Amino acid sequence: MRTYCGELNKEHIDQTVEIFGWTNRRRDHGGVIFLDVRDKRGIVQVVINPDNKNFTLAETIRNEFVLKISGKVIARDDNLINQKLATGEIEIVADTIEILNASKPVPFQIDAVDTSEEVRLKYRFLDLRTNVMQQRMRLRSKVTHFMRDFMEKHDFLDIETPFLTKATPEGARDYLVPSRTYPGEFFALPQSPQLFKQLLMMSGFERYYQIVKCFRDEDLRADRQPEFTQLDVETSFMNEDEIMALMEAMTRGLFKSVIDVDLGDKFPTITYANALDKYGVDRPDMRIPLEIIGIDELLENIEFKVFAEPAKNPNSRVAAMKITGGSNISRKQIDNYTKFVSIYGAKGLAYIKMNEEGPASPILKFLGTEVTQNIINKVDAKTGDIIFFGADKIKIVNEALGNLREKIAKDLDLYTCKWAPIWVVDFPMFDANDDGSLSAIHHPFTAPSVDAKTLESTATTALSRAYDLVINGSEVGGGSIRIHQVAMQQTVLKLLGISDEEAQDKFGFLLNALEYGCPPHGGMAFGLDRLVMIMTGSDSIRDVIAFPKTQTAACLLTNAPASVPNKVLRELGVKISLPEKD
Ligand code: AMO
Ligand code: AMP
Repeated sequence: MRTYCGELNKEHIDQTVEIFGWTNRRRDHGGVIFLDVRDKRGIVQVVINPDNKNFTLAETIRNEFVLKISGKVIARDDNLINQKLATGEIEIVADTIEILNASKPVPFQIDAVDTSEEVRLKYRFLDLRTNVMQQRMRLRSKVTHFMRDFMEKHDFLDIETPFLTKATPEGARDYLVPSRTYPGEFFALPQSPQLFKQLLMMSGFERYYQIVKCFRDEDLRADRQPEFTQLDVETSFMNEDEIMALMEAMTRGLFKSVIDVDLGDKFPTITYANALDKYGVDRPDMRIPLEIIGIDELLENIEFKVFAEPAKNPNSRVAAMKITGGSNISRKQIDNYTKFVSIYGAKGLAYIKMNEEGPASPILKFLGTEVTQNIINKVDAKTGDIIFFGADKIKIVNEALGNLREKIAKDLDLYTCKWAPIWVVDFPMFDANDDGSLSAIHHPFTAPSVDAKTLESTATTALSRAYDLVINGSEVGGGSIRIHQVAMQQTVLKLLGISDEEAQDKFGFLLNALEYGCPPHGGMAFGLDRLVMIMTGSDSIRDVIAFPKTQTAACLLTNAPASVPNKVLRELGVKISLPEKD
């Protein structure tokens, strides 16, 4: 009977065991061969003595050969115990050795720490053999197991929704699939099951969930993939407080059960406006004790135009961020931070250092003593601190200081706790584009918190009934109460500049269904990959997905995407027309 390598311990001493696994490492010690054999549970050392009947065969074993070995477990001498190995107190003296399969020399040593991501992704099947990847996949599976269990216990039904479907607007580009049976027409892969889950509420299921792939052709980042997984949830007859409470209970249970982390009592709530004002982003990392403080009113009347102009302009702001104990941040580091904020469009990064001798800064001469003192008082800066400033359009200042806040916290390790969940609420319904048109902040099916008439007259300021869950500065989930009345849905589509005709063409089925007894409903979707990413402390979403895509949305393992033969294109009625290369 098979015993797992990683489970062997002192209790097995003197027993004959049979193991299956891969050669993690092989060492020759003056006639004795040592093998580290690895299976999904761990590694054990096997000793092959020169008098072993399979010794000649054993000499041919190389890394990653697949083996079946039987032998006797013995205790290691005290001075040979390997504390780093769970099985380090024992070893197996081999009796019979079988090579089940050979392996070519591997392009990298399994568990080597310095393998480039490109190589890891090309040989993902080998990379997944590493202990760290095995642990991450195991944790991911525990997460989905917990979620399913929780949802089923709370009477949610797992219902699948189509992948070959029509565009679902979540703000990204669609991945399209050409139809052979309707040449010239395309399916879109769903950006989320949003419309189908709403239809399921109209069908009377009341509680739906699904762990489901979503597809979005958008600019990729460390926490975004073109195909990713959601825990997608929808309910009827529950309001936002009830949905948030249930989803919070799921999240709390998940962290406790899978990584033994207590996320504390009721998660705090912050409004979208407050989050932007104080933390510069709509996904504030509450582990960081730094705040952005508006100082417009102190600067309106000064000569220094860099500050005075934005202070007076209602679309701009001047804000300060104090770093306690930051006065020893070097000139060079300040230059780096200045470069960093320029990514977000900031034209500079003014600062005041609170030195022993008093405040020091290239801008003191522009501010004058009184204004400088007012600023120091407002941000409550003390000797040893540094104050950074942003002055520009509101969006630029928020993004620059908001991201700088996170960068400095990381550089100086300023975190005050390990886990900080927070709900963000009171999102506006719409974002105003430069040309005056509106886009939905959540998605066009999110209910406003006002009636249709008020919405029409206050579109740019009206709030929605949406909520996001943020943990450690990462948006791990979002949802809303939906529009369940056709007139309201039509109003919102109209405000978004979607004509009746276009609305019928794109969402006719939804508008139709809304007229046949649609219950009030709402829900939420969690980004599963992001959750697993923060639960495992990974820096990249790619590290928690078995077969991820690169930053340019390609798969290095399979070489997808790839061209297809002309015959296939002809059948699909598709003609390739690439722009001319310069
Ligand atoms: P939303 O677009 O906010 O909402 O998505 C929900 C959650 O999915 C995760 N997420 C992603 N994860 C990885 N890669 C991506 N490209 C990506 N995009 C989003 C985020 C996000 O919080 N239908 C609505 C939900 C609802 O209203 O119920 C929706 O999809 O963690
Ligand atoms: P200048 O007058 O351009 O030499 O700028 C003086 C100081 O103000 C420098 O430290 C700049 O980095 C900083 N600065 C310039 N523009 C801005 C801005 N829009 N926001 C914040 N700081 C700025």
